[in-house]
Amino acid sequence: MAGSTFGTIFKITTWGESHGAALGVVVDGCPAGLALCEEDIQAFLDRRKPGATKFATQRKEADSVEILSGVFEGKTTGTPISMLVRNTSQRSSDYSEIASYYRPGHADYTFDQKYGFRDYRGGGRSSGRETIGRVAAGAIASKLLEQLGIFVTAYTYAIGDITVNMEHFDLEEARNNHTGMPDKEASEKAAAYLRTCMENLDSAGGVVACSVKNMPAGIGEPVFEKLDANLAKAILSIGAVKAFEIGDGTAVSMTKGSINNDCFCINNGKVSKTTNHAGGTLGGISDGSEILLKAYFKPTPSIFQEQKTVNRNGEEIAIQIKGRHDPVIVPRAVVVVEAMTAITILDMLLQNMTARLDSIQNFYQK
Ligand SMILES: Cc1cc2nc3c(=O)[nH]c(=O)nc-3n(C[C@H](O)[C@H](O)[C@H](O)COP(=O)(O)O)c2cc1C
Repeated sequence: MAGSTFGTIFKITTWGESHGAALGVVVDGCPAGLALCEEDIQAFLDRRKPGATKFATQRKEADSVEILSGVFEGKTTGTPISMLVRNTSQRSSDYSEIASYYRPGHADYTFDQKYGFRDYRGGGRSSGRETIGRVAAGAIASKLLEQLGIFVTAYTYAIGDITVNMEHFDLEEARNNHTGMPDKEASEKAAAYLRTCMENLDSAGGVVACSVKNMPAGIGEPVFEKLDANLAKAILSIGAVKAFEIGDGTAVSMTKGSINNDCFCINNGKVSKTTNHAGGTLGGISDGSEILLKAYFKPTPSIFQEQKTVNRNGEEIAIQIKGRHDPVIVPRAVVVVEAMTAITILDMLLQNMTARLDSIQNFYQK
């Protein structure tokens, strides 16, 4: 079964490999009439580009996007939008050795088992570069959401065991430092931790947090297309993500109902909640409060220490990985989490438009 398409109405198909000619995405189901240009997409891609921070792979790629279809005279036409980024810094020689063995923590073994052979250059389709297509599509979804007054924002919440102090929250700081943390003090600590990891030829994991502001209530399709379930799928489909949390997440199992329940109240004449432990959904449907989610990333699997593994001939061997790799994935993955969240929220907003007869009547009986 193919698995490169995500979404029901706002549907994206990503394509391309790390060391192929290009990578990209086809976005089908984007409404006509959105003002869109390459700069809108490029601003998002620049946030995930290699070499953008000193804790990212030093592979230098311009990652310049080309819009091939679906936009005419500066506006989306309602037809498929195809976007492409050419690979310009491939060094397949860095990877020629990898053809013969399975790198620990990578998808080499599982791709071989599934397909019988694999594109070993930089991980092929399992490479972090696959996320280029997601980010390009996410830029469009975010722009559409902004038209509805809905804003998706992600940032680095933790690197190793260093977490952001929310009392210091400063998004400008996050967008300008090397860790993506919205807290100068935590960012400096995390940078020191990452330097130690690099000196030890090791890597670090971390957490990306994401919020959706001005989310209307009523979005999500029980029972198999719940908002939280679809967000979980979107986030867990990102390489290296090992866990997803909404609201207080795993901590709820250790609390009590009297603390965990978000009490309802009236605020400015509207139904509201006094707390948001749930993270903005109840029964898989948005409750009108902020959507709060977290994505937990494992440490970058490519480390430069000697490691034990097995080759394709079934022999146990010791390897030392070469090439260019991020000592931590999280800072570059912030925009990927933001993109997948925006794509999911937009798709579910569009799906919701058929939920009620009165909405359909309002639409057709103008
Ligand atoms: C944005 C992004 C960048 C990544 N960069 C690297 C990298 O430089 N080196 C590496 O070993 N893994 C990197 N990865 C992770 C691997 O792609 C991923 O861990 C691997 O394919 C195994 O998949 P799994 O961890 O989901 O099981 C990156 C992932 C993402 C999302």
